[in-house]
Amino acid sequence: MMNKEKMKTDTTINSNLFDVYPRFSITPEKAEGVYVWDTNGQQYLDLYGGHGVISIGHTHPKYKEAITVQLNKIGFYSNSVDMPIQEELAQKLEELSGYQGYKLFLANSGAEANENALKLASFHTGKKKVIAFKGSFHGRTAAALNVTDNEKLSAPLNKDNFPVQFLDLNDEDQLIQALEKGDVAAVIVEGIQGVGGLDAPSHSFLKFLSVKCQEKGAILILDEIQSGYGRSGEFFAHQQGDIQADIVTMAKGMGNGFPIGGVLIHPEIEASYGLLGTTFGGNHLACAAGIAVLDVLKEENLMENATEVSDYLVAQLKEIDQIKQIKGKGLMLGVELEYPVKEVRTKLLNEYHIFTGASANPNLLRILPPLTITKEQISVFSKALKEVL
Ligand SMILES: Cc1ncc(COP(=O)(O)O)c(C=O)c1O
Repeated sequence: MMNKEKMKTDTTINSNLFDVYPRFSITPEKAEGVYVWDTNGQQYLDLYGGHGVISIGHTHPKYKEAITVQLNKIGFYSNSVDMPIQEELAQKLEELSGYQGYKLFLANSGAEANENALKLASFHTGKKKVIAFKGSFHGRTAAALNVTDNEKLSAPLNKDNFPVQFLDLNDEDQLIQALEKGDVAAVIVEGIQGVGGLDAPSHSFLKFLSVKCQEKGAILILDEIQSGYGRSGEFFAHQQGDIQADIVTMAKGMGNGFPIGGVLIHPEIEASYGLLGTTFGGNHLACAAGIAVLDVLKEENLMENATEVSDYLVAQLKEIDQIKQIKGKGLMLGVELEYPVKEVRTKLLNEYHIFTGASANPNLLRILPPLTITKEQISVFSKALKEVL
């Protein structure tokens, strides 16, 4: 079946793993708060949060306790039984997010949340065209991938899936034209684009989107998988635009590392048995993790902290002349230089022991720290960046 000549023969630590990830040769074995330690005992400041996943800090005591207590009771049962723990999660999410009366469907990842959101929009409207935006990333399952603006990720079987039109973000005229025929099931947009490089829908565009979707009967899906759960300073980034979406998807920060995804669904979108489903989604352990995250976000005022620490960092970064632009909001920031950041990232990691992220824009450093980070901790980064530049 496979040409043996072409098989990789060098034995690395990952030799039995399907080799799809370029990896740093660092082995984290311990983590706490905003820090990670490798097997040599080296401490790293984690401004990447394992790709925006760590919201309440690594190994938070309340998080560890909640998961441990739950595991000692029951770790898993399927969605064929009553699950009061899911109700508790949904109620706490309603309270903290301000999305009153919306229904929650629980999944296991971001792509899966978007897959279900898109399917739901199509079920509800009976239509199949979707509008997405240039620079978007919504995940790697079939429908999510089809609305992701990166051809390279699509296999032949993903082509010609359902019709998608990619528009320029914030272009009202393009939106009017694309919605004109009334054949659109959904418009999907990120609260703040992550992989694409931290561009965001403006507040006025969000309002326009919301009004036009309603006029034309299209479902507005806000992908808050990366920008949600307090990262922007609001619970969901789009709430800064003072709108409500029909469907909101979430994942990353929701479980602080425990795999969980969610879809918040407008009460007018009707459920029926079998419409959506998953074996693992909403299991007891995932819910225990999700509840602990919401409790800590609230008790420790982490949304306020995200705004305060962000303002402090942005003020410091503005004093560095070599920085062309600072993008994003709260603790989802992009630091853009005039040249590729690859070497800067490597230096920050190897010499200053600071993890940062990258994006589709080679000139942009992505900053996604745990929302518990303090001003003192983050200023280590601005000092290091100043020295490196
Ligand atoms: C905005 C956005 N949507 C969807 C996804 C896909 O999430 P997952 O990797 O959990 O499937 C990501 C992941 O980076 C994302 O940033």
